[in-house]
Order: sequence, then C-alpha cells, then structure tokens
Amino acid sequence: MQYVSMSIQLSNINKFYGPAQVLHDVSFSCNKGDTLVLLGPSGAGKSSLLRVLNLLETASNGQLAIANESFDFSNSIQEQEGLRLRRKVGMVFQQYNLWPHLTVLENLIEAPVKVAGKDKTDAKKEALEILETLQLADKADAWPMQLSGGQQQRVAIARALMMKPDILLFDEPTAALDPEITNQVVKIINQLSETGITQVVVTHEVDFARKIASHVLYLEKGRIVEHGTRDAFVNPATAQFAEYLTH
Ligand SMILES: Nc1ncnc2c1ncn2[C@@H]1O[C@H](COP(=O)(O)OP(=O)(O)O)[C@@H](O)[C@H]1O
Ligand SMILES: [Mg+2]
Repeated sequence: MQYVSMSIQLSNINKFYGPAQVLHDVSFSCNKGDTLVLLGPSGAGKSSLLRVLNLLETASNGQLAIANESFDFSNSIQEQEGLRLRRKVGMVFQQYNLWPHLTVLENLIEAPVKVAGKDKTDAKKEALEILETLQLADKADAWPMQLSGGQQQRVAIARALMMKPDILLFDEPTAALDPEITNQVVKIINQLSETGITQVVVTHEVDFARKIASHVLYLEKGRIVEHGTRDAFVNPATAQFAEYLTH
C-alpha cells in the first residue's frame, strides 16, 4: 500500500450474485482510526460490501487493500487467506451469533485459544478485562440466552475485541435494539474510535449514523452516491443523500 495511514482501500469492486449485479464499480479509501458508516436503504448492497472487506464474500473483480494485505479478486482467493485476514478484521453481526452452549467467558476465549493457540489462563484474564470495560464483568459465567439483546450485542463486541483486530466491522449492530440500548452501542463505538481502531458500520438508521460517523458512504442500488466526512450529514453534496436524511 502506498499510504501507511490508509487502513482500507477498495478499487473498482464489482460483485454479482448469479446474473444480478449488487456492487457497481465501488472505490473508496478510509484512514486508520476512521469510523466509516455505510448508509443506505435495504438492498443497497451494504452488507455485501462489508462482507467483501473481510473476505466472507469475494467480489467478482476489483482490488482490496486492508490491514496491510492486498487482494485482487480477478485471481482466486484461498479459504486460508480469508481465515488469516479475519483475525485482523473482526466482525460483529446483527444476530450476535454467540455460541449458545458456551458461557460468555467461554464464547470470548474460544477463538483465541482454539484458533490462535493462546494460553487459556491469559485469554481468560484478557476476557475479564474486556468484559469489565463493557460493563459485563458480572455476566462472565452467564449463558447467552440469559442475557438481554443489548447484553448479547456487547458480548459479541467483546468477543470480536479478543482478537485485537486492526479493523472492526459491524452489520446493523442496533437493528434489534431499543433506543436506550442503541445509545450504549453508540458509546462503545465512540470509545473504541479513541483507541485508534478503524471501524466500518453498516446501518440504515440516520440518527445512529450521525452519532458515530467520522465519515459516511451513502449507497443506492450497489453504487456509491455520496462519500464524505460527517459534515455531509449537515451539508449533503447530493440530492439523493439529502432526501435520505429526511427519513
Ligand atoms: N447470498 C446472496 N445471494 C443472492 N443475492 C443476494 C445475496 N445476498 C444479498 N443478495 C441480494 O443483493 C442485494 C444487496 O443485498 P445486501 O448486500 O444484503 O444489501 P443491504 O445490506 O444494503 O440491505 C439485494 O438485492 C439482495 O437481495
Ligand atoms: Mg444488510
């Protein structure tokens, strides 16, 4: 990569599902420490784009540079490369995806111990520290189903942080949460941004986006319509984004 401060660079990404093109010539870059919000209506391609960033999906063509690795989608990408990248580029899903048969603590240490080969005692110590910062220390031995949606979402964030990712991706992290709990997620994302981690957050909720974004990418039908700093929420450059902001 040319620029050390650049955390993510996408160039000319096209993606098809069968005959349907869902991403059209998407290019953008994002600096280390940014919180980039991908905003847009349902079906705009936000989740597909997010999943390309950690190789949960491959694009049909185009280039991706992320976390000091680069990929050209015209070449085939090995499963191993995805596994390796996902240690540096963590993801928090809308549905939390916690393992129901493991306690909160066990959910947190599973990947570091089983995948990354970390010492179990060290992993537990780190897990308890992270749970403490997310105000979940008293939930370490609880089962996921004993927790509220907001608590499960915080555990999912804690679990992603265990891998010490350079970049953290969130797909609609507040979609199932009520406003008060959404504000807790806002706080966590804003606190994380102060640590210098790069975050990319998919949402269709304008209010949530406004509260967390350093930058925003507004998509419609698989195309970038607007890309700007958080100022774009006040001074949108396009009529389409201005219209979306009135929702
Ligand atoms: N696995 C898939 N197979 C086929 N089509 C898909 C798949 N995932 C998403 N799509 C389609 O791609 C388009 C973009 O979807 P998505 O990326 O989920 O958008 P968003 O997250 O903005 O709602 C939609 O038309 C959706 O139906
Ligand atoms: Mg989506």
